[in-house]
Amino acid sequence: MLARRAAVGRTGLFLLAFVAACVTARAVAAAETLEATGAIEGDQPAGRISRHLYGHFAEHLGRCVYDGIWVGEDSRIPNTRGIRNDVVEALRAIAIPNLRWPGGCYADNYHWRDGIGPRVERPHRINTHWGGVIDTNAFGTHEFLDLCEQIGADPYIAGNVGSGTPAEMRDWIEYMTFAGDSELANLRRANGRDEPWKIPYFGVGNENWGCGGNMRPEYYADLYRRFSTYCNEYSGNRLRRVACGPGGENTAWTRIVMQRAGDRMQALSQHYYTLAASWSDKRPATGFDEEAWFAILRDALKMEDRIVETVEIMDEYDPRGRVKLYVDEWGTWYRNEPGTNPGFLYQQNSQRDALVAALTFHIFHEHAERVTMANIAQTVNVLQAMILTEGPAMVLTPTYYVFEMYKVHHDAQRLPVTLTTPDYTFGDAAIPAISASASRDRQGAVHVSFANSHATQAVAVSLDLTGVNATSATGRVLVADSLDAHNTFENPNRVKPAPFDGAKIADGKLTVELPAASVVVLELK
Ligand code: AHR
Repeated sequence: MLARRAAVGRTGLFLLAFVAACVTARAVAAAETLEATGAIEGDQPAGRISRHLYGHFAEHLGRCVYDGIWVGEDSRIPNTRGIRNDVVEALRAIAIPNLRWPGGCYADNYHWRDGIGPRVERPHRINTHWGGVIDTNAFGTHEFLDLCEQIGADPYIAGNVGSGTPAEMRDWIEYMTFAGDSELANLRRANGRDEPWKIPYFGVGNENWGCGGNMRPEYYADLYRRFSTYCNEYSGNRLRRVACGPGGENTAWTRIVMQRAGDRMQALSQHYYTLAASWSDKRPATGFDEEAWFAILRDALKMEDRIVETVEIMDEYDPRGRVKLYVDEWGTWYRNEPGTNPGFLYQQNSQRDALVAALTFHIFHEHAERVTMANIAQTVNVLQAMILTEGPAMVLTPTYYVFEMYKVHHDAQRLPVTLTTPDYTFGDAAIPAISASASRDRQGAVHVSFANSHATQAVAVSLDLTGVNATSATGRVLVADSLDAHNTFENPNRVKPAPFDGAKIADGKLTVELPAASVVVLELK
């Protein structure tokens, strides 16, 4: 009995010591509140942030198109001409400006004639890149362009260079865009569409250094010249031809393609994925610790290096910056969720992905003169998705909410933000704790977005307002109860924006208390 009491006493002492240690740790943390300072230069507008930086990408991959977007006219899931109404409504709410389709790797294996005409007659093909599943071709050109009209997005079509021909590419463009009396335009009419569509963006191949044909840059540059020659503009359609650019750090590709074909393109594409791991052994999307939080955010910030190195080379061949850079695939790439087809690239999406999106947008804003389009991979059920679906159910991800909160920056005038930020150090590496971006919209309202990458520390930010006439700051915060917090079908509202009352303006200064691991968007009035 005595021994037992002694044991209880020891446990009690341990508990007391533990509580005291926690209180002390919290006091130390409070004493160490991090501070960032700087200014928003409202009198130095620095160019427009194209809304097309908020573009999307939907590939015939896993359950992105089939299930995620297309359920068919006979489905019990409410739909309009086969396209899910819940997904359309959610995408309309984030005002996605453009949508890239049908791939990705799928594009260089796609033959557009398979996807027109009566659906029952369309050929079934093997999706050789993504799980070897059968693609019924139920979702083709008309269905994609209907989707674009339903969500109000400009179509960005990726053409087939790898296994296609210049004639096939030429015919597709004529089929979609010619208003007159030609065989292909009449075929479109016979298939139910009288008026031509406008196709403002057309990709001449995708990742042709890899899945799009494993080409050398010299060979692709020649093919680009040949194929793009037949990318004709009909009936007032203005086509921006997009050449395949680098993935990762492939600067040799950029140089040769720009040197040999730069004068024939309106844009060069670039792909950059965040994985902070090897392609053969990726990280899980959830259930991670602070090391993984830090590693992914650090890797996401490398987007800036990739853009800078590409633009430097582009400048050598195009010093006036006529050719734009489209980052037409970006996002996090994790291990597929347990029990799912590895070829479907289905992954969860957590508060960490929200931070990746916010940091990436801030980088795009900084380079918005040259980087005028970007496409997150991918819209539904694949990689860093906005939306996850399971039968009739739909969940919006933390990344979705960043797109929703950042709508205020669409087509707004960028206002430079100077920032002295504390470091967020983990192990022997460090990244800036705070990232911020500001803009003024057409109505004159100023918006500021912040990302606090620090996993555990709040940061007090104080910014001088020059040329910004405002006395109040209101906004919303995206913050979660754990670093890997995510929305599930059982708990779909765990991570969503909430009103934010941590900002004020006094004496021409904006002060903001940014919670750890948060994204905040403010309107200054
Ligand atoms: O987005 C998934 C794949 O990643 C695309 O199909 C391809 O272009 C890239 O490698």
